[in-house]
Amino acid sequence: MKFKPANNIQDLQYFGEFGGVNPSISDSSTYTFLSAKTMFDTFEGNAEGCYLYSRHSSPSNLYLGEALAAMEGTETANVSASGMGAITSVLMQLCGFGDHIVSSRTIYGGTYAFLKNFLPRFQIETSFVDITKLDTIEAAITKNTKVLYCESVSNPLLEVADIKKLATLAKKHHLKLVVDNTFSPLSISPAILGADVVIHSLTKFINGSSDTVGGVVCGTQEFINNLRNVNNGASMLLGSTMDSLRAASILKNLRTLHIRMLQHSKNGLFLAQKFEADGLKTVYPGLKSHPSHELFKSMMNSQYGFGGMLTIDVGTLEKANELMEHMQNRNLGYLAVSLGFYKTLFSAPGTSTSSEIPEDEQKAMGLSDGLIRFSIGLDDDIERTYQMMHGCMKELGIL
Ligand SMILES: Cc1ncc(COP(=O)(O)O)c(C=O)c1O
Repeated sequence: MKFKPANNIQDLQYFGEFGGVNPSISDSSTYTFLSAKTMFDTFEGNAEGCYLYSRHSSPSNLYLGEALAAMEGTETANVSASGMGAITSVLMQLCGFGDHIVSSRTIYGGTYAFLKNFLPRFQIETSFVDITKLDTIEAAITKNTKVLYCESVSNPLLEVADIKKLATLAKKHHLKLVVDNTFSPLSISPAILGADVVIHSLTKFINGSSDTVGGVVCGTQEFINNLRNVNNGASMLLGSTMDSLRAASILKNLRTLHIRMLQHSKNGLFLAQKFEADGLKTVYPGLKSHPSHELFKSMMNSQYGFGGMLTIDVGTLEKANELMEHMQNRNLGYLAVSLGFYKTLFSAPGTSTSSEIPEDEQKAMGLSDGLIRFSIGLDDDIERTYQMMHGCMKELGIL
């Protein structure tokens, strides 16, 4: 049977505390107990339905977590204050002193910096590999490897991970496959394809209004319980907790995600096809020229399209900067990092979101100076947008 993540979100039903159609927002950091015995049991983790303290869990955070778990098809989920809060707690939960991680080399710059610069303080080393080359990945696995880490569609190069094959490899070597699915919510369901843990930066498409940061870890009940464990759980002890008011607002935005993704994808495909036809070096998973176009098609929940992220290469950083400033002046979007907003956002990853990656490594992975990353907005008239972008490129001699 086909997996339908948007149906799973649609089918959630809420009767708020006062019969509201939205769950009431839990506005408390701490909770009373009618008996001291129940408080003890809650600390021990066996008092169903009781809350202890909101860094551990809160009703609003649980509602959002359960909706995201339904979307990803996992047993449960734990929300966090940011995507990095989710990523760092997962990696620190799964790895300890002397352990090793094999990671895709094209990942979000912050994750790269955490793996490369921060985890070695705890003697946790990472080998960065080309995630499209399974034999290179297998060769990098050592007896200390605990985690295989990748993004389903990578930031910023839009490489696509073969999650089924990676899951098989992870099982063979007893590793946990951790997949950051931030770029492809709804269209790719990594847990259904075999990933052990799925992470999102909720900051992006899922929230979709660029008004907060947030993150989530989706996985088994056992793993999420471990993250929340009062004695040794990374989420509980590192303390990257989402606020209840934010959890409530993200839950409301999640309900329109399927409609927004359709429009992001429609507009992304339209612009990618036009840019490519204009002769620009364009990367978009929905283009036949994308090396993993067929792989993406084989993994996707097809109704949501190929997503809203694309890149073009205009040759030099100077040209990239000129074009981005020009497009912003023409109100075609914002020169800003991040993604998933209703307006188009553009940035040059080499000097922004991937600047943590040293220049020589950027070159090795194909991250060129003139690369512009677009998060395509919800524009109703994308033909008009294209004509205006085309005009900007003509004026600057890019076309
Ligand atoms: C793919 C990906 N994962 C994780 C993150 C980190 O998320 P946050 O900024 O919410 O901490 C980002 C942020 O840009 C990202 O693009």
